[in-house]
Amino acid sequence: MKSSFKKHFGIEATVVAKAPGRLEILGNHTDYNEGTVLSVAVDRAMTVAAAKVDGKTCELYDLVIDSTKTFDLDKLDNPTKGDWSNYVKGVVQEFQKRGYTVPAFKATLKGTVPLSAGMSSSAALEMAFVLVIEKLAGLSLDWKNRALIGQAAENNYVGAKTGLLDQVSSLMGKENQLVYSDFRSLQVHNVPIPAGTAFVVANCMVKHNLTNEYNERREACELAAKILGVKALRDVTPEQLKAAKDKLPEVAYLRALHVVGEIDRVEKGSQALAAGDLDTFGRLMFESQYSSTNYFDNSIKELDIMVELAKTIPGHIGARLSGGGFGGITVHLVKADQAEQYCKTLADLYQKKTGLKTEAMICTAAQGAHYL
Ligand code: GLA
Repeated sequence: MKSSFKKHFGIEATVVAKAPGRLEILGNHTDYNEGTVLSVAVDRAMTVAAAKVDGKTCELYDLVIDSTKTFDLDKLDNPTKGDWSNYVKGVVQEFQKRGYTVPAFKATLKGTVPLSAGMSSSAALEMAFVLVIEKLAGLSLDWKNRALIGQAAENNYVGAKTGLLDQVSSLMGKENQLVYSDFRSLQVHNVPIPAGTAFVVANCMVKHNLTNEYNERREACELAAKILGVKALRDVTPEQLKAAKDKLPEVAYLRALHVVGEIDRVEKGSQALAAGDLDTFGRLMFESQYSSTNYFDNSIKELDIMVELAKTIPGHIGARLSGGGFGGITVHLVKADQAEQYCKTLADLYQKKTGLKTEAMICTAAQGAHYL
C-alpha cells in the first residue's frame, strides 16, 4: 500500500490501516434492538494508506476502481447519493462533531470486500478511515468510540439507521474466532469456531440497498417495543410476545417475532457451540432463514432458493442470509473437508435453478481492524 500511495501522490504515507468485512452468523436485525449477535470478521478487507497535507482539501484515490474523490473539510454538508466517499466524509464529520481537529489528508484505498453484498464493505471502509484519521489527528480512541463514530457516520451522513454490528465485528474479530456481541451492555467476547468446520459465502447476485427497507424494519421494531412498554425488544421473550399478539399491528408483531426469535437463537446457538452440538447450531441457522422469509420479510426468492439448495448438499450444517437482507449473501456452515466441493455444487445448482451465475467461496475468520 505504501508504494502505491507514493506512486500515486508522490509523497510518503505515514499510516496504513486494514479493516475487515464481516459475516453475521446468527442474530439478524437484533443489534439495534439491544440484542445479541454471533458474527465473524473475514479475510476480505479494506486497506487505507494516508498522509497529512496542508490546507483543507482531502483527496481519496480508490486503487481498485481507479476513482478519485476530493472534498473540503469545511464543506461536508451535502452527501451525494451513491458516492462511496460519503462513508469517509461521514467519518470525518463525526470526528469534527466530537470536537477533534481532523487534518487534511491524502489517502489511497484498496478493498477486497464485495460491495453491496451484505459483508459490510461500508463498515470496513469506515473502520479503516477511523484508524487512519485517529493516527493523523494524534488521537487514541477505544474500540467503542471507534465503532460509534462509524455507526454515526452511517446514521447521520449516509442516512441508513443501522446498528453497531458491522463496526464492532470489523474491530473485534480474531483469527479462528467468532465475535459474540451484546448490544445492550456492549460486552463483546470471542468464541472459537468449531474445529473441522468452514464458512462458505455465496452471493445470490441480487444487490441490496439498505436505506429504505432497513429503516422501515427498524421503525416497526421500535413501534412494537413502544406498544409493549419496553425499552427495546431485548426485553421481551418469545412467549411474552406471543401472549401480547393482539396488542400489536400485524406487521409490527411479525417483525418483533423475528427479532425476539433471533435473540433466543443466539443464546441457544452459543450453548450449542459450547457443547460441540453442530446439528443444533445448523438447525438454528435454517430457522433463522425461515424467520427472515416468513416474519421479517427481508429475504428474497433468490436467497430462499440458495438456502433450500444448501440442505441438499453433502457437508452442509446450516445456512441463512447474512446481514441486512433484501439481496446480498448467504452464509453456510459446512464440514471443512467437504467445503470446496460444496462451493462448486452450490454454485452449479444455483445457476441451474435461477440462471444466475454466482461464486461460492470459503471465508476464514480474520483479525479485526489494525495498523500495518
Ligand atoms: C446491517 C446493519 C447492521 C445489522 C444487520 C442486520 O448489516 O448495518 O447494523 O442491523 O444489517 O443484522
